[in-house]
Amino acid sequence: MYSSKVFEHFKNPHNFGSMTNPTVVGQVGNLACGDVMKLYLKITKNKQGQDFIKDIKFETLGCAAAIATSSVVTDLAKGQTLTEAIKIKNEDIVKALDNLPTIKIHCSLLAVDALTEAIYLFYKQNNKNISAELEQKHHRIINCQARLKH
Ligand code: FES
Repeated sequence: MYSSKVFEHFKNPHNFGSMTNPTVVGQVGNLACGDVMKLYLKITKNKQGQDFIKDIKFETLGCAAAIATSSVVTDLAKGQTLTEAIKIKNEDIVKALDNLPTIKIHCSLLAVDALTEAIYLFYKQNNKNISAELEQKHHRIINCQARLKH
C-alpha cells in the first residue's frame, strides 16, 4: 500500500514537464519494467562559484511510484550544488515518501539514476574530474538504456 505522500506526489507532481534550453538532460530506463524518465537540469554558478541546480524538471513514463519518486528527487535536488546533489540516494527518496512497498523500491532507482546521469554528462561536457564510482554508475545506466532499445 502506498503512503499518502506517494499519492500526493503522484496526483500533483512537482516540477513536472519539459524545459527549454536545459544545461543537460539525464535519460534513463528501468530494465525490469520498461519505464523511462528524462530529467532536465539548468545549472549555473552560485555566489561561491560552485555549480548548482537552478532549475529542474522531469518527464516520466511510468508507475505511480516512479512519478512520485521523480517528483521528490526534483524537490531534493533543486537549489543544491552538484556536489550535494550527487549524494542523493534512493533511500533518501523512499524516506521522503514515508516508505514504498518493497516491490516498488526499484522504482526509486529510476529517479536517482536520471539525476546521476545528468550530473555525469555535465561533468563530462565540462571536463571535470569524474570518480571511478560515478563512471561505473554511468556505464550501468547506459547498458540498461542500450538493452531497453533492443
Ligand atoms: Fe516501472 Fe515502477 S514499475 S518504475
